[in-house]
Amino acid sequence: MSALPSAERRASPDAFLDVNGIEVIYNHVILVLKGVSLRVDEGSIVALLGANGAGKTTTLRAVSNLLHAERGAVTKGSIALRGERIENLTPAELVDRGVIQVMEGRHCFAHLTIEENLMTGAYTRRDGKGAVDATLEKVYAYFPRLKTRRTSQAAYTSGGEQQMCAIGRALMANPKMVLLDEPSMGLAPQIVEEVFEIVKDLNTKERVTFLLAEQNTNMALRYADFGYILESGRVVMDGAASALRENEDVKEFYLGTGGEGRKSFRDVKSYKRRKRWLA
Ligand SMILES: Nc1ncnc2c1ncn2[C@@H]1O[C@H](COP(=O)(O)OP(=O)(O)O)[C@@H](O)[C@H]1O
Ligand SMILES: [Mg+2]
Repeated sequence: MSALPSAERRASPDAFLDVNGIEVIYNHVILVLKGVSLRVDEGSIVALLGANGAGKTTTLRAVSNLLHAERGAVTKGSIALRGERIENLTPAELVDRGVIQVMEGRHCFAHLTIEENLMTGAYTRRDGKGAVDATLEKVYAYFPRLKTRRTSQAAYTSGGEQQMCAIGRALMANPKMVLLDEPSMGLAPQIVEEVFEIVKDLNTKERVTFLLAEQNTNMALRYADFGYILESGRVVMDGAASALRENEDVKEFYLGTGGEGRKSFRDVKSYKRRKRWLA
C-alpha cells in the first residue's frame, strides 16, 4: 500500500462515484492498475493525471465497463455509484444510470453530419422527441460551433469541432457524469481552452459531473476541483487542484515550472518523492 496524504478519501460510500482499490488485468496476465482508489463527488470536476501509459484510460474503462472489449477485467476492489456496485453492469445500463464515457481520440462517425452524430447519442432516451430536441438545442447553445457546422460531414470538420461533437453526443444521453478521456489531445492550446471553458460551464450550470483523464496537467488543474496523479497504475498523489498546482513536485514534474528546470518523475527515486509528499 502506498502512503497517501489523504488516505481517508478511500472507501467513501457517500461519494457519487467511489472506486476502491481496483486492480485491472489485461489478457489475464498484464497487471495495469495496482489498487487504484478515487472518489468523485456529485457536481465536481475531478482530474486523473499522469504520463502516457500511467493507467488513466484503463481507470475510465473500468468505471464505464468498457474493459471487456479490450480483454481486460477488474480483478480486485470495487466500484460504486451512489453506493450501488456497478462492476457487473453493461455500458448501456450505466448510461441508464447517467454515466457515459467520451473515448480518447474523439470518435465521431466520419460519414455522418455533426447533427446526425449528436442524434446517435440519444438512442437510449425514452423521454420522447420533444425532450431530445430540447437537449439538442441545449448542446448547440453550449457549442455554437456545432450549430454552425450541423450539416457538415464530421470528416470535414476540425479536430476541435470533432472533440466538441464527441462531448455533445455524450450530452445527448442526458448524463449525470461524463468520463472524458484526453479532450486536449492533438488540439491547439486556444481550442483546448475553449473546450475546457465549455466543460466548466456545463459543470456549473447543468451540474454535470466530470471525471477527466488528461496529460495536460496545467490545463486540467485550472479547471478541476480535485486531482489524482497516476504513475504505473498507482495513485501517487491526490489533492485539491489548487493545492496540486502549488505543490513543488507537481510543478517540477508535471508543470515544468519548478526551479531546477524540467525533469521526469522517473529521474527521482520514488522514496524521495514519497518522503517529500508526506512531509
Ligand atoms: N488492451 C490492452 N491490452 C494490454 N495492455 C494494455 C491495453 N490497454 C492498455 N494497456 C497497457 O496498460 C497500461 C496503461 O495504459 P492506459 O490505461 O491506456 O494509460 P494512459 O491512458 O494513462 O495513457 C499501458 O502500459 C498500456 O500499454
Ligand atoms: Mg489514455
